[in-house]
Amino acid sequence: MNFLSLIESKREGKTLAPAQIQNFVREFTAGKIPDYQMAAMLMAIYFRGLTTAEITALTLAMRDSGDVLKFPRDKRPLADKHSTGGIGDKVSLPLAPLLACLGFRVPMISGRGLGITGGTLDKLDSIPGFKTLQPAEKIVEQVQKVGCVICGQTDRMVPADKKIYALRDVSGTVPSIPLITASILSKKLAESLDALVLDVKFGCAAFMQTRADARKLAKAMVALGNECGVNTRAILTDMNTPLGRAAGNWLEVKESVACLAPSVLPASRWQIKSSQFCRQDASSTFADLRLLVLDCAAHLLVQTGKARSLVAARKRAEDCLNSGAPRKKWDEMLVAQGANLGAFNKKLALDHTAPVVVELKAEKPGFVSRCDARLIGEIIRDLGGGRLTKESAINYDVGIDRLAKPGEAVRKNSILGRIHAADQSQAQSACARLQAAFEISAMPPRATRLVAEIIASSR
Ligand code: URA
Repeated sequence: MNFLSLIESKREGKTLAPAQIQNFVREFTAGKIPDYQMAAMLMAIYFRGLTTAEITALTLAMRDSGDVLKFPRDKRPLADKHSTGGIGDKVSLPLAPLLACLGFRVPMISGRGLGITGGTLDKLDSIPGFKTLQPAEKIVEQVQKVGCVICGQTDRMVPADKKIYALRDVSGTVPSIPLITASILSKKLAESLDALVLDVKFGCAAFMQTRADARKLAKAMVALGNECGVNTRAILTDMNTPLGRAAGNWLEVKESVACLAPSVLPASRWQIKSSQFCRQDASSTFADLRLLVLDCAAHLLVQTGKARSLVAARKRAEDCLNSGAPRKKWDEMLVAQGANLGAFNKKLALDHTAPVVVELKAEKPGFVSRCDARLIGEIIRDLGGGRLTKESAINYDVGIDRLAKPGEAVRKNSILGRIHAADQSQAQSACARLQAAFEISAMPPRATRLVAEIIASSR
């Protein structure tokens, strides 16, 4: 293969044939194309884009670069959710056991956080004994037996994406819609899914800062997923404010477990029109997190024909969550993945596991009109809760909880957030920075929708 001529073709904006794309993905994965040439191709794609047929060819070639999970025939549909990443976004944790209890099989292959966005695997690593690395046979076995698994990609799954992503990371070619689409969907297609719901975030702490860009990405992924035989939908969700009231690895596991408990919130407040749920309805708990978990489950129920309407599906998902079965399923999943349940429950009972806890208090009464997710993500990363490079070690105990949410009324000295830090000086500097993440105004802010749009088809 003359890869140089393919780079030149793409540089000139020409369309590559599927066979040419398959060839270069195979050759690059096998180490037969040098990084500098592949980086040039990625940059050409970044500027020239790819046609739908080219994105499909790239995605399928990446999927087929390694193991594709093979499941026995079973009446339970295979389903998953993928989020483009945010602050406090722990939806996967309660969602996997909920879906298992709703009669799905959930092979949730997740990733680690990089920069300010959290990663599901990092959160799970804070659970004593929990193993996030499983061989493909074990993933399939656990999904068949327990109904769900949350684990990392094995070395043999989608190796082309691993190599290409690492190169994109250092060649300025990450924010390309065709490349993001192929990267995310190649991994999801390797799970052999029947249905997929994509949570595409927009806002100050999201990959796609504007709703228009998020919509473009969502439409590209929905079109490709459906074309590849997976019933795919996307929801566009607001990531200007953290999801829930806790951010930081262990604190998010705690909040996820709390989310699995039966709710005392009157369902009517947010169940029926949950896609129109407003931040101002946040109440005193983490209603936004629960809402998103139930919404993702509801879409999958509709996508797989298990429910006729979103309203009926949300009710079914909520009843299931309130039955307590998903909380038990969570424990079952933990045990299946090696967790020490006794140690986990002991840890869960602690108010905090970080050595120092400091509260940030409101200086005046009013309404929270801003709680900046980007700033909060940066503070947590700098406390040691995130990574600056792929090699950085993580402190699982640090983070911020008891976050006040936009729309909420506060008095002078109400808690706006509680910082969990490794030492006093880190806690104090985080507290000073956290102050800037909040704005308190005399009037309540305009309500914003958490789920701003549903993209069920690419048109
Ligand atoms: N997540 C991925 O897996 N790939 C991307 O390109 C971006 C986000």
